[in-house]
Amino acid sequence: MQRVETTAALRALLKQWRQSGDRIAFVPTMGDLHAGHLALVKEARQHAERVVVSIFVNPLQFGENEDFDHYPRLLERDSEKLKAVGVDLLFSPPVAEVYPNGLQGVVRVDVPTISSILCGASRPGHFSGVATVVSKLLNMVQPDCAVFGEKDFQQLLVIKKLVSDLCFSSEIIGVPTCREIDGLAMSSRNRYLTDSQRQQAPMLNQALQKAKKAVTGASLVDFQKIAEQATISLNKSGFKVDYFEVRRAADLAKPMRDNDEFVILVAAWLGSARLIDNVRVPIPR
Ligand code: PAJ
Repeated sequence: MQRVETTAALRALLKQWRQSGDRIAFVPTMGDLHAGHLALVKEARQHAERVVVSIFVNPLQFGENEDFDHYPRLLERDSEKLKAVGVDLLFSPPVAEVYPNGLQGVVRVDVPTISSILCGASRPGHFSGVATVVSKLLNMVQPDCAVFGEKDFQQLLVIKKLVSDLCFSSEIIGVPTCREIDGLAMSSRNRYLTDSQRQQAPMLNQALQKAKKAVTGASLVDFQKIAEQATISLNKSGFKVDYFEVRRAADLAKPMRDNDEFVILVAAWLGSARLIDNVRVPIPR
C-alpha cells in the first residue's frame, strides 16, 4: 500500500493507474477504522482495480462544542488495517493541504432542504462541512465510484444530491450498516460509552425494529404515534432522544401512506455519546 499526504503526489499516482486502464474506487473516512469502514473497502474492491482510502478529520463539519479536538487519530493503526485488506493507496492530508487558505471564507457547498432537517437541525453547518469536503476529495481523486455507509443515511442522500446537481462523474455506492452481534451499529463514537451504557445501546436498534414492524404491520399507520411511542420508551430507558422519525426513504420528506419505501431514523444521546441509526422499510405493493 502506498501512502501520500499531498494532492500533487496523489494525482501523480492516479494518473499512472488511469493510463494503464485501471478503474479507481474511493472510500473517504475520518479514520479510527472499524469493520464498517472495511466493509466499504471490500465493496470498493468489487468495482475497481484500484482502491483509494482517505483519512481526514474534517474540521469544517464539527460544531464548536463537538469532538473535533478529541476525535481519535490513530493513523498508524488504521494504516495497518488498510494494508491488511489490500488497499492500494492511503491519502492522509494535513488540514493545510485541504484548506490551504484556512477555513474562514472557504467556498462552501450547501445542499439545501435536506441539510437542515434531522441531524442538520441539531448540528447546524454540519452537512455543509461534509458536502464541502466530499466535493474537494472527489475533485482530488476523481474516482470512477465512491463508497459510503448507509449508517449515515442522511449524509448519503446529501452526497447523492450534490453529485447529481454539481455533475460529478463519480458513481455513489451505498453499503448496508455493519453491526455488532447485539445489533448496535458500529461507530467510532461507541468508544465514549461506559460498560453499562454499552449494554443499553442495542435498545436503539431494537426500537427501530419494533417501529419497522408497526409501519409494515398495520393498514392504517400513524407514523407520528409510532415515533412518539419509541421516543418515550427510549427516554425512559436512559437515552435522550434527539429525534425518532419515519420519513420517505428517497429524500427524507414527511412520509405518506402510498410511499414505496420508508426509512426510520433515530439520533439519541447515551451519556456523552450521540448515537445514530436507521432502518429501511420497503413496502411491497
Ligand atoms: P466516518 O464517520 O469515518 O465514516 C466514513 C464512512 O464509513 C461513511 O461513509 C460512513 O457512513 C461509513 N460507516 C461508518 N460506520 C459504518 C457502519 N457501521 N457500517 C457501514 N458503514 C459505516 O462519514 C464520515 O466519516 C465523514 O463525514 C466523511 C464522509 C469522510 C466526510 O468527512
